[in-house]
Amino acid sequence: MKPSNTLDALPPINRGMVERLDKDAFRKTIEVLAAKVAPQRTGSILRAAPLQSCILDLPRVPSAARAPDGDRLVLLRVQQEDDLPRQAKDFLDEEKLSLVVHKLELTYDYWTANDIISSVLPEELVEEAPSGFAAVGHIAHLNLRDQYLPYKHTIGQIILDKVRGIKTVVNKLDVIQNKFRVFDMELIAGEPDYIVEHHETECTFLFDFTKVYWNSRLHSEHGRIIELFKPEDIIADVFAGVGPFAIPAGRKGCGVFANDLNPESFKYLKLNVTKNNVDELVRPSCEDGKDFIRAIITRALDCPMPPAAPPMSKTQKRKALQQTKHSQSCGQSRGSSSPSAPTRTRVTQFVMNLPDTAILFLGAFRGLLSPVNVGGRDLSGLYAEMPMVHCYCFTRELEPEKAAADIRQRVEHELGHSLGDEVSYYHVRSVAPSKEMYCISFRLPREVAFEA
Ligand SMILES: C[S@@+](CC[C@H](N)C(=O)[O-])C[C@H]1O[C@@H](n2cnc3c(N)ncnc32)[C@H](O)[C@@H]1O
Repeated sequence: MKPSNTLDALPPINRGMVERLDKDAFRKTIEVLAAKVAPQRTGSILRAAPLQSCILDLPRVPSAARAPDGDRLVLLRVQQEDDLPRQAKDFLDEEKLSLVVHKLELTYDYWTANDIISSVLPEELVEEAPSGFAAVGHIAHLNLRDQYLPYKHTIGQIILDKVRGIKTVVNKLDVIQNKFRVFDMELIAGEPDYIVEHHETECTFLFDFTKVYWNSRLHSEHGRIIELFKPEDIIADVFAGVGPFAIPAGRKGCGVFANDLNPESFKYLKLNVTKNNVDELVRPSCEDGKDFIRAIITRALDCPMPPAAPPMSKTQKRKALQQTKHSQSCGQSRGSSSPSAPTRTRVTQFVMNLPDTAILFLGAFRGLLSPVNVGGRDLSGLYAEMPMVHCYCFTRELEPEKAAADIRQRVEHELGHSLGDEVSYYHVRSVAPSKEMYCISFRLPREVAFEA
């Protein structure tokens, strides 16, 4: 039978530390019983079956300590001998082990961020205390509700102290309203350094978190879409941000036209293309999404993408990188695609991640492939297979069937035509109590693209 855990290892209660975090106020001494053993017997006593239920099991505290005289102490999770189970007492008697009191000194460094936050907040705020945050590179960003704002600096400092790699803690100030989807933020702890280096999908992204859109919660969604792409694809990423779809797609061998209207996103997109060694395959631009869609078919014809480079293993990638560095130093061009393979001219996938309004950009697909939009060319042969469109949106409909019907109706309205059979709806995340984010993926109807 396990003894009832009588140890109170929670931090001291320091409610109301509003402005300044006093770390010295988080000290606690816990007295536990310990069996004194010769050093060479420590392992066998720690493993002894009759003691198993009463060995100290506090997280991050070793179960054995050194006694002042050089012996070892096997720490127990009880404070009085009477709390030990019968079989443990008998075992200690048989082994002639004496019991001593051992003092565990716990300090601020011992407890987790959640432990400390719960001990400083007023009792009524503890239950719904902020327990999570999103990390973007070295920045932790929180979205504190009003009642927690008086404690923002303390909460920020605790996260800064406790979470490895975090150097800056910000609180989101408002719902995103501006067209570039950048939110205002306030520094609540740490350094005012907002230039982030973030790693996602085996790529590195550099950006100024105060000037461009980035959402770490979209990590798996980026991965899901990239997984759908084949290396032979040409992707048109209409609202590319700093490249979380475009750059991993380029790493896969896809040709990518990556666009964003925010000049800051464009600046970092270009940097990230180079940083991730995909200059040959990812072409950034900075224009309105509608203009980009209208122009992209001709751009792909006039300036074809190099052939798909086959996916590389990690070792191959390392070698290719060395090769690239070498060729750069010799003044040669980048990339590893074979010069003999045919170039690519057909855009096969569109990605449109601007959930608030992306559907309203779908009108740009009407007549996209018609001769009048492509310099008089007849593209009916080249585009025997129509591109796929992955368009993000919000809906207030909570039930999947109703959400799908709502999205489909709005998409068809903008396209001026019904969708074919190849349509799927993917629930990305719940953004607010009645705001669901979806991605509709559909094959662009031929009638829409060739509309006169
Ligand atoms: C929701 S973010 C998505 C960024 C990126 N694709 C991602 O998944 O993280 C939408 C992006 O669209 C850009 N944007 C907003 N309006 C635009 C427009 N009219 N044309 C092109 N880009 C636009 C914003 O600057 C922002 O980077």
